[in-house]
Amino acid sequence: MKLLITGGAGFIGSAVVRLAIAQGHSVVNVDALTYAACLENVAAVGNSPRYVFEKADIRDRAAMDRILAVHDPDAVMHLAAESHVDRSIDGPGTFIETNITGTFTLLEAARAHWMGKGRPDGFRFHHISTDEVFGSLGPTGKFTEDTPYDPRSPYSASKAASDHLVRAWHETYGLPVVLTNCSNNYGPFHFPEKLIPVVILNAMAGKAIPVYGKGENVRDWLFVEDHADALLTVLTKGRPGRSYNIGGENEARNIDLVRTICRLMDEMHPQGAPHDRLITFVADRPGHDLRYAIDPSRMREELGWRPSVTLEEGLRRTVRWYLENEAWWRPLLARQGVGERLGVKA
Ligand SMILES: NC(=O)c1ccc[n+]([C@@H]2O[C@H](COP(=O)([O-])OP(=O)(O)OC[C@H]3O[C@@H](n4cnc5c(N)ncnc54)[C@H](O)[C@@H]3O)[C@@H](O)[C@H]2O)c1
Repeated sequence: MKLLITGGAGFIGSAVVRLAIAQGHSVVNVDALTYAACLENVAAVGNSPRYVFEKADIRDRAAMDRILAVHDPDAVMHLAAESHVDRSIDGPGTFIETNITGTFTLLEAARAHWMGKGRPDGFRFHHISTDEVFGSLGPTGKFTEDTPYDPRSPYSASKAASDHLVRAWHETYGLPVVLTNCSNNYGPFHFPEKLIPVVILNAMAGKAIPVYGKGENVRDWLFVEDHADALLTVLTKGRPGRSYNIGGENEARNIDLVRTICRLMDEMHPQGAPHDRLITFVADRPGHDLRYAIDPSRMREELGWRPSVTLEEGLRRTVRWYLENEAWWRPLLARQGVGERLGVKA
């Protein structure tokens, strides 16, 4: 298939681009190259004759029309977004513009393209979203595809709005969409403002490892390469109009996750051990959701997909990758806001 992938220079988008090329698809990577982007993430496929990069903003309708007309993709996989919850607390405006208005603009461009081709049934608009749209769970229970939306941060509210738009474009215009809502991702090429890379890099530097609140928030961690595989599975086998929850089957409290990374650092980077002495509890994020957990039954039963990487194995691979790829992460530490405590102004 020829795939138009938005946000392909970001963390998850780049994993999808690399896997799609490896599986034999053609890829048009559309990315505005914001602070969160890194073209090195897709350097491995840069020379492939099946790969093209287009620097463009999803809010730019003329650019989206041109790119769709020139490349004529069979499917759009939409990952471009503002993605950092703490940044959404300090500056929600760009989240509204990119995640809501940008998705609307892309949907309209995709709809016009699809109608112009005679509304082919096989076309897909795959919207990639988050489990954060479902709000916060107590100590038990899991999110299913039928869980009511209850977003609680500007980030999750903007993603929830975009999910509603995508469903409406299916119901109203018949656009063949699929949606996915996934749990927290981690792995190689994760931008160094997110929890897991912060823990690894601070441990390496002998700096305090910040843990929000008491570290009791629970997330269901999904290895990014498993996620990319799940996304291509949904794209090719998922039913139009349907959404799929993708989880890692790896629930962990933040404090336990951080201690596991410290233990792996003790083993793989013994300088400065024990690294858990660096753990420092800091003021919690405003509106910090307590627990997210995915019920993965639909992915398993309808599409035969389940994650392949355990949390221990995925963290081991991630720690090793950061230890071996300083040339990738070091320059990113100089980008605006990285290494600062964000999202405490509320
Ligand atoms: N990271 C997670 O754990 C996670 C979990 C669930 C869902 N998601 C969703 O997956 C998608 C990808 O997340 P990520 O972590 O890879 O994000 P990321 O921040 O690493 O990458 C986002 C990419 O989108 C691009 N982008 C931003 N605004 C743009 C615009 N207006 N036009 C074109 N490109 C633009 C950026 O340049 C960047 O390359 C997002 O939609 C996010 O909501 C992420």
